[in-house]
Amino acid sequence: MHFQFRRFSYKFTPHHRAVHQNTTIQKMKFAGIISLLALAGCLIISCGDSGSKTEKQPFEASGTPAASAPSGEDIYKRACASCHMAGGDGIANVYPPLAKSDYITDKEKTILQVIKGSSGELVVNGKTYNNTMPPQQLNDDEVAAVLSYVYSSFGNTGTAVTAAEVAAVRAK
Ligand code: HEC
Repeated sequence: MHFQFRRFSYKFTPHHRAVHQNTTIQKMKFAGIISLLALAGCLIISCGDSGSKTEKQPFEASGTPAASAPSGEDIYKRACASCHMAGGDGIANVYPPLAKSDYITDKEKTILQVIKGSSGELVVNGKTYNNTMPPQQLNDDEVAAVLSYVYSSFGNTGTAVTAAEVAAVRAK
């Protein structure tokens, strides 16, 4: 019985560390709650495959900054690639390229382009585009991550963009 409580506490509650470190008496106090939670867990998700999901919970809950930092590449694929293409080449006369674009040499203009979008004529590498890019619903960290990705991909050479730089442009 005791073994079962400990098993359940590992599998179904984020309290498992506290429980583990506490005294046996405190364990007993938690036991009722734990077993209820375990039972609820079993009812909500099948006990069979819940193990692998819930074992991750304490780790995820601890939320290391590295784990939550947005990946520029992921954001690019999700938010930009549909128009600018996965390789950053855009589509002739419709979507301008980000690959070796002379436009992005101006960092502030580039940040502004992402947060505000644009409509009308826009020249990239001597070619005129006349289209609309909607403002991107991304926070400062995400804009920084996606532009840092753009600057370090597609044959581009540029420095990383920080969230502080994005915030500064947004505040203007
Ligand atoms: C719906 C299509 C679309 C999406 C999505 C989109 N763009 Fe654009 N983008 C455009 C168009 C169209 C233009 C040119 C707008 C104009 O003519 O005023 C442009 C222009 C640009 C420019 C300036 C010109 C150049 O090619 O250097 C940059 C930089 C840029 N986009 C970056 C991004 C980034 C980064 C994302 C993703 C966060 C993104 N765009 C998402 C369509 C899009």
